[in-house]
Amino acid sequence: MTKNIGVLTSGGDSSGMNATIRAVVRTGIYHGCKVFGIHKGFDGLISNNITEMTVGSVGGIICQGGTILQTARSKRFMEYEGRKEAFENLKKHEIDSLIVIGGDGSFHGLHELIREFGIQGIGLPGTIDNDLYGTEFTIGFDTAVNTALEAINKIRDTASSHSRIFIVEVMGRHAGYIAIYSAIASGAEEVFIPETNEDIQAVCDRIQKGQDRGKLSSIIVVAEGDEMGGAFAVRDRMIKINGHWDIRVSILGHIQRGGAPSAIDSLIGSRLGYESVLAVLNNKTDIMVGYMGLDNDVSNVPLKETWEKRKIIRDDWKKMASVLAI
Ligand code: F6P
Repeated sequence: MTKNIGVLTSGGDSSGMNATIRAVVRTGIYHGCKVFGIHKGFDGLISNNITEMTVGSVGGIICQGGTILQTARSKRFMEYEGRKEAFENLKKHEIDSLIVIGGDGSFHGLHELIREFGIQGIGLPGTIDNDLYGTEFTIGFDTAVNTALEAINKIRDTASSHSRIFIVEVMGRHAGYIAIYSAIASGAEEVFIPETNEDIQAVCDRIQKGQDRGKLSSIIVVAEGDEMGGAFAVRDRMIKINGHWDIRVSILGHIQRGGAPSAIDSLIGSRLGYESVLAVLNNKTDIMVGYMGLDNDVSNVPLKETWEKRKIIRDDWKKMASVLAI
């Protein structure tokens, strides 16, 4: 049975979203479906900003960062009236199924639309934060980690030349995945993540010990959502303990969201886009199709579980990060 499928990207963009859109469009058309691109996320659905996609309309985009469909954090979609308009527009185009590439906020919205209007909906994990339960990686996370890693490695060069301490703030509103992965991969001395509380005195003692044994530099990676309040707050607390330290702060910000996707993100995006259409054709709904390793089957997780259950950073990662940086 063929279907009319709508696809949109929502929330913060992430590298690999284009590879995902391409896979949805081409797999859908291969199976005889019509595929409609909805521009600017749920806002575009409410404004009827919808066009039919062709095989050629997604040519040459697999290697591009961002999202050709554009994205938005839609306030209107949070209200019932907005969702009703969105549903009316889906009906106008005879769209039976909606594939939403985004994070937990987007999944909340999709879940409501499914519940209220009975449409078929599938979520795909697209966010750099990697904070969704039920998927090992989210689309865009690997690229963001690689971008952070490249930046930290460059900062290490100047930090060592000046014998400085650097605090590097990476993205991650509620989750420390980008921070812990980039910290371990770059050999950072310390890492602050929202999932754990740091003892600032102990951190300063370890940094001092490193300096005493001749370390040329120290790098502290801080997730923006860390409970201490970000990189500048961490610096202020450290200066209070050790006033003579020369500490610089570098906030990486939105560069982590852009750029060509890594091989892993292109692969994950392609795989999940492909599998999401198969899920639609198999009449699945209200689930996220998640990535569980390239050689493994994808996961099918109820949308609700993706935000109700918490994805946990392995306990031993923090320990490993500090053992390796002594
Ligand atoms: O998409 C996730 C994320 O990049 C978070 O890491 C960050 O806190 C947030 O989005 C920033 O959002 P915005 O681009 O809307 O400022």
